[in-house]
Amino acid sequence: MKNKKFILLITFIILLGLTIIYISTNAFDKFVCSSNDKIDEKQIQITNLNKDTMGTIEENNPEQENKKINYSKIKLPEPVYSSNTSVEEALSKRKSIRDFQKKPLSIENISQILWAAQGITDKGKNKRTAPSAGALYPLEIYILIGNVKEIESGIYKYKPHQHEIVLIAAGDKRGDLAKYCAQPEAIQTAPITLVFAAVYERTSVKYGQRAERYVHIEVGHASQNVCLQVISLNLGTVTIGAFQDSYVKKTVQMLQEEDPLYVMPIGYSR
Ligand SMILES: Cc1cc2nc3c(=O)[nH]c(=O)nc-3n(C[C@H](O)[C@H](O)[C@H](O)COP(=O)(O)O)c2cc1C
Repeated sequence: MKNKKFILLITFIILLGLTIIYISTNAFDKFVCSSNDKIDEKQIQITNLNKDTMGTIEENNPEQENKKINYSKIKLPEPVYSSNTSVEEALSKRKSIRDFQKKPLSIENISQILWAAQGITDKGKNKRTAPSAGALYPLEIYILIGNVKEIESGIYKYKPHQHEIVLIAAGDKRGDLAKYCAQPEAIQTAPITLVFAAVYERTSVKYGQRAERYVHIEVGHASQNVCLQVISLNLGTVTIGAFQDSYVKKTVQMLQEEDPLYVMPIGYSR
């Protein structure tokens, strides 16, 4: 009888110990990962599926120089931090462009534009090119690539900390998106289109009802950065707010908690 009780006690202690270890590991994970750094598991699954069906190229192979990189994760080149265009010149030249050439963009263009939108400026302090209420960073940026020299067409998501894009869905989806937005010709023709999304929850945990206002202000900051950056790259854009939310969300394959806010086709002005 005594033995039985002893075994039960030991089993209970072991189970309790295992439960504590499990809970503390999960809590630690949650503590060290900021909400916007978490891996989007659903999306990574999609990416891995696509990876299997997409080949890779050997870099530095002259015969394949003109082929596109089609890795499921693409590390973007370092952005440049100076140019011959002053802020004043970019401001004075900014205007909406809705008519684009079919000329392709480069991977350097993509790097620069995404960095301007939400890139990291101070790695130690986790600061970005656009201000964010409470440094909670509710914005996510999707990029529809349809005509970029080095990158396969597809829907990608920008990862600011890694300065890379992750494939969400392969193939040219510009036509699909265009169906649900104002200025469909612009989206259909422009080599790339940015779709800004927001996770309101990241800001509302701290700011409650005021979060909606803050998130909308933030997408204005980020999109204005892009408006000015594209001038410096000799490109043009238009900020599109008129679209069917649920269809855009579905087409871009956003996560449940993300909502689309702004659409920006970008390319060379005609
Ligand atoms: C919140 C917002 C939403 C907009 N939505 C659209 C849109 O759906 N379609 C469009 O062609 N332009 C849109 N625009 C661009 C405006 O039409 C444009 O900025 C305005 O006509 C002034 O012209 P400009 O940008 O050339 O100075 C939007 C601008 C803002 C600020």
